[in-house]
Amino acid sequence: MIVTTAQLAKHAFGKYAVGAYNINNIEQTMGLFRGCIESQAPFIIQLSKGARAYSDKRMIEAVIRAAGEIFPDAIYAVHLDHGDEETCYDCIDSGFYSSVMIDASHHSFEENIAITRRVVDRAHAKGLTVEAELGQLGGVEEDVIVEEGNACLTNPDQAVEFIQRSGCDSLAAAIGTSHGAFKFKGQQSLHFEVIEEIEKNLAAAGMQPVPIVMHGSSSVPQEEVRRINAAGGKIADSCGVNEDEYLPAAKLGVTKINIDTDGRLVWTRVHREFFRDNPAAFDFRPPGKIFMDEYTKFIAAKNVKLGSAGQLASLRAFLSK
Ligand code: G3H
Ligand code: 13P
Ligand code: ZN
Repeated sequence: MIVTTAQLAKHAFGKYAVGAYNINNIEQTMGLFRGCIESQAPFIIQLSKGARAYSDKRMIEAVIRAAGEIFPDAIYAVHLDHGDEETCYDCIDSGFYSSVMIDASHHSFEENIAITRRVVDRAHAKGLTVEAELGQLGGVEEDVIVEEGNACLTNPDQAVEFIQRSGCDSLAAAIGTSHGAFKFKGQQSLHFEVIEEIEKNLAAAGMQPVPIVMHGSSSVPQEEVRRINAAGGKIADSCGVNEDEYLPAAKLGVTKINIDTDGRLVWTRVHREFFRDNPAAFDFRPPGKIFMDEYTKFIAAKNVKLGSAGQLASLRAFLSK
């Protein structure tokens, strides 16, 4: 059952985070639904511009619709990840999406507000919610350059004005993570104080708490990287977010945690090992089946770390009120 991202955020707020998983193909879709049913977790499917263009947006959307029929007990939202204005409008008008992300964070503060406001107006008119980004991911890589990196973090003093004027429903806050497998050069440095300050400033302004989204949240398991490299890969100096940080972040108001890279690592490990061990193979279905099983396990385990595992019954009761 497709629900709104706002409903998922409302149920999760302050307790757990919903996994927002980027998918591109049939195998990931099967593993995602199976993993979430096995772990009894709600989830957010997110499609990037690249995912929609990989085959054809209608193809991946049809795959998701089919999965909804195969797994009638699944409760999830469908979200556009890192959209530009044009793609946001395409998703809003399609009638299929629960929410969109407008990523105008590379523009000036004023321009970011103006673009986000336009998307919010179009989205709200059709019942969708909007995630917007303030600050920029990346940059906070090691202790010695924290000061420089801080320039990229979301400014909590600007956040209230941004939320108020843009009308966005959730905020992607830059707290020190970055996309991909190489997040930190030195020690992990997440800035939870940014989230605390944002929620504190909202309360001081007499506003409702706003759900926060954490991008770049893959944990880049070192065992996964080791196996990839042992099977011919060359991924050096990778580093991810500590999974034990997910729940503390959720308690502060993070309701959506974005994961893409970790799923790509599962795919890479499975396929490198399979073809290393079966050099004469050329049927793609045997490794594809292993991948679906491994992706299922990966999703179920991730949901435990996010605290979303086991939430389906309580969410169902909440939705029927
Ligand atoms: O944040 C970006 C996501 O990992 C999506 O990546 O644009 O390569 O599909 P992509
Ligand atoms: P990772 O690269 O850490 O998986 O982040 C994904 C993401 O933020 C998608 O929007
Ligand atoms: Zn992202």
